[in-house]
Amino acid sequence: MQHFLDIHRTDPAELRAMIDAARRMKAARGGRPHGAPDDLQPLAGRMVALIFEKPSTRTRVSFDVGIRQMGGETMVLSGREMQLGHGETIADTARVLSRYVDAIMIRTFEEATLEEMAEFATVPVINGLTNRTHPCQIMADVMTYEEHRGPITGRKVVWSGDGNNVCASWLHAAGQFGFDFTFTGPPTLDPEAEWIAFARARGVRVAVERDPFRAVEDADLVVTDTWFSMHDPESARERRHNQLRPYQVNEALMARAKPDALFMHCLPAHRNDEVTSAVMDGPHSVVWDEAENRLHAQKAILRWCLGV
Ligand code: CP
Ligand code: NVA
Repeated sequence: MQHFLDIHRTDPAELRAMIDAARRMKAARGGRPHGAPDDLQPLAGRMVALIFEKPSTRTRVSFDVGIRQMGGETMVLSGREMQLGHGETIADTARVLSRYVDAIMIRTFEEATLEEMAEFATVPVINGLTNRTHPCQIMADVMTYEEHRGPITGRKVVWSGDGNNVCASWLHAAGQFGFDFTFTGPPTLDPEAEWIAFARARGVRVAVERDPFRAVEDADLVVTDTWFSMHDPESARERRHNQLRPYQVNEALMARAKPDALFMHCLPAHRNDEVTSAVMDGPHSVVWDEAENRLHAQKAILRWCLGV
């Protein structure tokens, strides 16, 4: 059994194998209804706990549906309603859950919670987003890019906006899959230096460019995310909006990227803040495929974790 905690902590060959498996499993479904089971039922007889300390639409539904397609069962738990939210330690929770379920997916605030869960669980633990990273999302994003445009290796990905948890996992992917990454945003919202250093140490070009129009020149993919993440303090909302407004992804910005550049957003989007509706609903956008591919990518991650 193996945990899936972060892209930078997972072997690149294994990441590649997971993306390829996700594409094969998607193809094998042959477009049948999402509620229909897969021919292969590798999770038959298995139970997966899905723990949420923050809201979710995609992560919750895509894990739940994907596990059921593979013959498994799920239990969706809210951190607040568990004893976890009332003083029981994460370590004790991990020990107990490991006696009941076959895998644990957790969406939490502090990375330390995920770490403690992984340290004390004797079943695989999957990171469903922390304040610092969102690896399942970027596995789906890499899959989506490659579905549309072929290998992501050697391409130029530009992130415009807040250097947040989703941006962090993109930097990890840049290092592991071998593509160039440009961040454009205000200096106060730069990605963590540690993640930039990780990608650079793996030999890819990472640029920080304050001018969004210069940043997107030659971009194969433009990505953004909310200006205000679930862990950000309400008091910062207005300041962030003011700082990030120049980094909105709109038609003028997309026009400066390569003509066949794609646009991605992990969603939920705040239309006409970080991205205009014209871009979200326009010809560059692959956001709905991106959302669907959470399902397929996570199924491959689960099979890798469980070795099934
Ligand atoms: N992108 C993503 O993780 O969405 P949810 O917050 O809806 O799970
Ligand atoms: N950066 C966002 C991503 C949501 C999927 C957040 O953490 O709220």
